[in-house]
Amino acid sequence: AQVTTAEFVKSSVRTEDCPADGLPEFALVGRSNVGKSSLLNSLVRRKRLALTSKKPGKTQCINHFRINDGWYLVDLPGYGYAAAPHEVRTNWEKFTKDYFLNRETLVSVLLLIDASIPAKKIDLEYASWLGQNQIPMTLIFTKCDKRKKKRNGGKRPEENVEDFQNLIREFFQAAPPWIMTSSVTNQGRDEILLHIAQLRNY
Ligand code: GTP
Ligand code: MG
Repeated sequence: AQVTTAEFVKSSVRTEDCPADGLPEFALVGRSNVGKSSLLNSLVRRKRLALTSKKPGKTQCINHFRINDGWYLVDLPGYGYAAAPHEVRTNWEKFTKDYFLNRETLVSVLLLIDASIPAKKIDLEYASWLGQNQIPMTLIFTKCDKRKKKRNGGKRPEENVEDFQNLIREFFQAAPPWIMTSSVTNQGRDEILLHIAQLRNY
């Protein structure tokens, strides 16, 4: 399961404007700056297919990338970007949730969680919302290359991953699948592509 072609197709602000060719899709969601665009670039082995930034709030639309002419990876704006004006934030929230609930070709949400820091309330809220709405989800832990720092709670990525899973257990009937990744070392890249291939073949 490797990526041979990857092309940007379009940016949409509403679910109705998304591509209508019916190809299955997988959406990258997560807190602003968690590494969604970086992970997409890592998966397709390109440096700048999706634009990344040190400053949160880089991605602002629903961006469709067609992979191997057979499926889409979708880059969504991050949530929890505190510096965005309130009305901008609620608008994002509305359109991403509308997308999750109404996009019929969405196979699974790939929910990205930063494994280099302890669980954040907003991530737990998002996971809980997806669980309650029974939206299929895979947990993708990012930044697993980052070493523990005192100010980050002093825990290793593995410990943060375990804590997060324990905290969301109550929201799900069955524990969601999970993968540990790094866009720096490309850890987890093959595992994600294999996982997507398996979901597509159901
Ligand atoms: P928004 O579009 O603003 O929602 O952000 P995003 O989730 O797309 O994050 P982006 O990919 O732009 O990455 C944010 C920052 O985190 C950048 O400075 C990246 O270089 C860094 N980063 C992303 N993934 C990793 C990773 O696996 N390891 C490390 N060490 N840094 C990462
Ligand atoms: Mg982005």
